[in-house]
Amino acid sequence: MTNGELLDMAIAAAKNSYSKYSRFRVGAALLTADGRVFTGCNIENASYSLTNCAERTAVFKAVSEGCTEFRAIAIAGSPSDDFTKPCTPCGACLQVLSEFCTGDFVIVLSNGFFRLSDLLPKRFTEDSMK
Ligand code: THU
Repeated sequence: MTNGELLDMAIAAAKNSYSKYSRFRVGAALLTADGRVFTGCNIENASYSLTNCAERTAVFKAVSEGCTEFRAIAIAGSPSDDFTKPCTPCGACLQVLSEFCTGDFVIVLSNGFFRLSDLLPKRFTEDSMK
């Protein structure tokens, strides 16, 4: 699975976005350590704060299927059919990813790839509570 293939899967996943309020479609494709891919889209709600981001949809699908080891996630978001502008994951999604991923976890955007440690350098983890 190349980064480009994973990004294409994220773009395809955005087609199922339920985003009638923002009209901003987001898709994510999460690659597991054993080579499976879980996709997700953003799911909005009339009670806006209950919206679930695409990344968290993908993570929750994977965890609920017994997968908790991840290698990479690709993310694509756009208000149109043009997904060339990068869609950086929000802080909430980075925190959810950090529960399961180490700093070298790869985040693929349309303009290249980053590490979780690049985007969330100082993480709150279970160690923070000791
Ligand atoms: N959104 C995501 O799905 N992922 C992100 O990382 C950022 C934002 C969604 C939430 C909402 O449905 C729309 O994009 C506009 O914020």
